[in-house]
Amino acid sequence: MSNDRDSFEVCQCLGITYGEIMEAIKNGADTVEKIMDATDAGTACGLCKSVKEDELNERELHLDEILESAKRSGIVK
Ligand code: FES
Repeated sequence: MSNDRDSFEVCQCLGITYGEIMEAIKNGADTVEKIMDATDAGTACGLCKSVKEDELNERELHLDEILESAKRSGIVK
Protein backbone atom coordinates (compact mmCIF):
# COMPACT_ATOMS: atom_id res chain seq x y z
CA MET A 1 0.00 0.00 0.00
CA SER A 2 1.56 3.25 -1.05
CA ASN A 3 1.63 6.41 1.01
CA ASP A 4 -0.31 8.12 -1.76
CA ARG A 5 -3.25 5.88 -1.13
CA ASP A 6 -2.93 6.28 2.63
CA SER A 7 -3.12 10.03 2.34
CA PHE A 8 -6.08 9.98 -0.06
CA GLU A 9 -8.93 11.94 1.49
CA VAL A 10 -11.92 9.59 1.56
CA CYS A 11 -14.09 11.91 3.66
CA GLN A 12 -13.74 15.34 2.15
CA CYS A 13 -16.02 16.99 4.70
CA LEU A 14 -13.81 16.12 7.63
CA GLY A 15 -10.50 15.44 5.90
CA ILE A 16 -10.33 11.79 6.93
CA THR A 17 -7.84 9.77 4.92
CA TYR A 18 -7.79 6.20 3.67
CA GLY A 19 -4.92 5.53 6.07
CA GLU A 20 -6.95 6.69 9.07
CA ILE A 21 -9.89 4.55 8.00
CA MET A 22 -7.69 1.47 7.54
CA GLU A 23 -6.19 2.12 10.96
CA ALA A 24 -9.68 2.10 12.51
CA ILE A 25 -10.53 -1.12 10.66
CA LYS A 26 -7.32 -2.77 11.85
CA ASN A 27 -8.21 -1.69 15.37
CA GLY A 28 -11.48 -3.59 15.19
CA ALA A 29 -14.00 -1.33 13.46
CA ASP A 30 -15.87 -4.02 11.54
CA THR A 31 -18.98 -2.05 10.56
CA VAL A 32 -19.45 1.26 8.78
CA GLU A 33 -20.97 2.64 12.00
CA LYS A 34 -17.89 1.70 14.01
CA ILE A 35 -15.62 3.33 11.43
CA MET A 36 -17.74 6.46 11.70
CA ASP A 37 -17.51 6.41 15.50
CA ALA A 38 -13.77 5.90 15.43
CA THR A 39 -12.85 8.43 12.75
CA ASP A 40 -15.86 10.78 12.31
CA ALA A 41 -15.70 10.00 8.58
CA GLY A 42 -19.16 9.97 7.04
CA THR A 43 -20.75 12.02 9.80
CA ALA A 44 -21.29 15.23 7.81
CA CYS A 45 -22.77 15.04 4.28
CA GLY A 46 -22.69 11.23 4.32
CA LEU A 47 -21.62 10.86 0.69
CA CYS A 48 -18.46 8.97 1.59
CA LYS A 49 -20.43 6.44 3.62
CA SER A 50 -21.69 4.10 0.97
CA VAL A 51 -21.70 3.65 -2.76
CA LYS A 52 -25.49 3.42 -2.69
CA GLU A 53 -26.00 6.71 -0.90
CA ASP A 54 -23.61 8.52 -3.24
CA GLU A 55 -25.91 8.34 -6.25
CA LEU A 56 -23.94 10.77 -8.38
CA ASN A 57 -20.65 9.12 -7.54
CA GLU A 58 -19.25 12.28 -6.00
CA ARG A 59 -16.73 10.40 -3.89
CA GLU A 60 -14.15 8.04 -5.31
CA LEU A 61 -14.05 5.69 -2.32
CA HIS A 62 -16.65 4.89 0.29
CA LEU A 63 -16.48 3.46 3.79
CA ASP A 64 -18.56 0.42 2.86
CA GLU A 65 -16.32 -0.58 -0.05
CA ILE A 66 -13.14 -0.03 1.96
CA LEU A 67 -14.57 -2.26 4.67
CA GLU A 68 -15.65 -4.90 2.15
CA SER A 69 -12.24 -5.07 0.58
CA ALA A 70 -10.59 -5.22 4.00
CA LYS A 71 -12.84 -8.18 4.78
CA ARG A 72 -12.02 -9.83 1.48
CA SER A 73 -8.32 -9.48 2.09
CA GLY A 74 -8.66 -10.91 5.59
CA ILE A 75 -7.66 -7.74 7.48
CA VAL A 76 -10.94 -7.94 9.33
CA LYS A 77 -13.39 -10.83 9.65
S1 FES B 1 -17.43 13.37 2.49
FE1 FES B 1 -17.56 12.25 4.31
S2 FES B 1 -19.23 13.12 5.37
FE2 FES B 1 -19.06 14.32 3.58
